[in-house]
Amino acid sequence: MDTDQQEVEKPTEDHVKTFANDVNEGLSQTPKKMNSKYFYDKKGDELFQSIMRMDEYYLTSAEFEILSLQKEKIAQAINYEKGHFQLIEFGAGDGYKTKILLSYLLEMGADFEYIPIDISENVLSQLVTGLEAEMPELKVNPIQKDYFKALEDLKSNDQRKVVLFLGSNIGNFTPENAPIFLSQIAERLNPEDSLLMGVDLKKDPHVILAAYNDQHGITKAFNFNLLNRINEELGGDFDIFNFEHFPVYDPVSGATKSYLISKREQTVSIGELDKQFYFDQGEPIFMEISQKYSTKEIEQLAAKSGFEVVNHYYDCKHYFTDTLWRIKP
Ligand code: TRP
Repeated sequence: MDTDQQEVEKPTEDHVKTFANDVNEGLSQTPKKMNSKYFYDKKGDELFQSIMRMDEYYLTSAEFEILSLQKEKIAQAINYEKGHFQLIEFGAGDGYKTKILLSYLLEMGADFEYIPIDISENVLSQLVTGLEAEMPELKVNPIQKDYFKALEDLKSNDQRKVVLFLGSNIGNFTPENAPIFLSQIAERLNPEDSLLMGVDLKKDPHVILAAYNDQHGITKAFNFNLLNRINEELGGDFDIFNFEHFPVYDPVSGATKSYLISKREQTVSIGELDKQFYFDQGEPIFMEISQKYSTKEIEQLAAKSGFEVVNHYYDCKHYFTDTLWRIKP
């Protein structure tokens, strides 16, 4: 396997500083917020993998179904048989769903190179090791970067590109920021390239809210893990028992938002910043948005971002779609 592009970031002093700066910036705003890219340390990766296996978290099984049942149609639509291409995946994670497409493309003798991008070094190296064992003939060039740094690598070269952005990761952008990010992808694509994006659809609000508020408290632990991470890596003294996990879903906007609410008036110190943060009783920390869209809104999003829709592939319940786009000529 060819792994020459692999860039592994170690938790150096620089990384601690960037993490500390981002935490400082987020906690100095009103409302207070966290940058969700810090969810994914080793423990966070494990918790997110448990989330994906929960009954309530329908997103993963819906997208798994789409890719399993419609891989032939999808592979045709991305023109896999028209010569070499790069298959570039933003937020590849454990590759659980992507592997369906990868093994089908290999089986069909497609000529491609897989470039998984993920912020988590831990999950990316697990993915690469797994792929080496399961699909030794696959060419893999992992990139460990956040989305924005990885975008810079996506400079137009003459290789045909198929960009994957699965798992409703686009939902972690606000509806205002999503077209900004997607336009940046569009700018780097050519007319023969395509984007396959997983989008979670608006549906029964009870179904949506349960996916972010499970019975067993795994999502809660996932949110608290970020506070624990600040305690361990930045010398913080967050007491998680002083916070409550509170997710909300607004069926009009389609936004699921996760909050941690301060149960009492309190002050939290962060050693690395040499600073204290005051929390009022009932004050929220906004942890992450998971935006849901209707099919019509997906089409508007494509138009706003410089794309046109080729096709939407749905699961049988119409809970989720993998939508295929090309740049607008
Ligand atoms: N990208 C996933 C999603 O929005 C991540 C996720 C699942 C998540 N549950 C969460 C992020 C709870 C923050 C809080 O569905």
